[in-house]
Amino acid sequence: MRLKLAAGNWKMNGTGGDLHVLTELAQRHTHPACELLICPPATLLHRAAQAVEGAEIAVGGQDCHPQGNGAYTGDISAQMLIDAGASAVILGHSERRQYHAEADETVCAKALAAQAAGLTVIVCVGESLAQREAAETLQVIAGQIAGSVPDLASGNALVIAYEPIWAIGTGLVPDTGQIAEVHDFMRTRLQDRFGAEIGGQIRLLYGGSVKATNAEEIFAVPNVDGALVGGASLTAADFSPIVRAL
Ligand code: G3H
Repeated sequence: MRLKLAAGNWKMNGTGGDLHVLTELAQRHTHPACELLICPPATLLHRAAQAVEGAEIAVGGQDCHPQGNGAYTGDISAQMLIDAGASAVILGHSERRQYHAEADETVCAKALAAQAAGLTVIVCVGESLAQREAAETLQVIAGQIAGSVPDLASGNALVIAYEPIWAIGTGLVPDTGQIAEVHDFMRTRLQDRFGAEIGGQIRLLYGGSVKATNAEEIFAVPNVDGALVGGASLTAADFSPIVRAL
């Protein structure tokens, strides 16, 4: 039985004045039926961790460096995320792949470092619209999983988020059949690689324009174990109904 996960990715949004969202979420979800994770910008991580202390909400980073420390101006290591109060990290988000030219090998190296530090790793995969239209979706997902997901010891500490790039922030969402096809495919690939037990423990999130209005339908799809939510995680009013739908 996989514990459902509602993860919010604030991306480059939020300053100290937005921490009230976390306290509101904590008040609304005293006994959440799922795991609740918010990934604010790194500048807010420490204060976010303090804001949710004692509540059933975890905080996470949006990226980390493969090295533990060193001359990497502007970068943040997995240990630094933990020091700031994080228990998880999003890696290989399509915005990192696109704007920071992150290749699968880089994502894999970051994931290895994050795992070694003790973070839960959320690896993002997903096809572009051109790739979907060329019927390359499953091939792209297979390649990203093979290249970005490291060998692992525990299925519980690894999460894969399927985020079709064309669905991110656009209001477009694949139909449930398309989501099911990719999630079933990912489950099979993971079980082929890691064995039925560990491959069956890895949680698979859907991300891309998840809203209160479509969450229930998406969460009913087999092998969808939760969501990675961008825009709709920025306020408690938008995120709470999604959490409740899980
Ligand atoms: O990490 C989150 C995803 O990129 C989805 O973003 O919910 O704003 O479409 P969105």
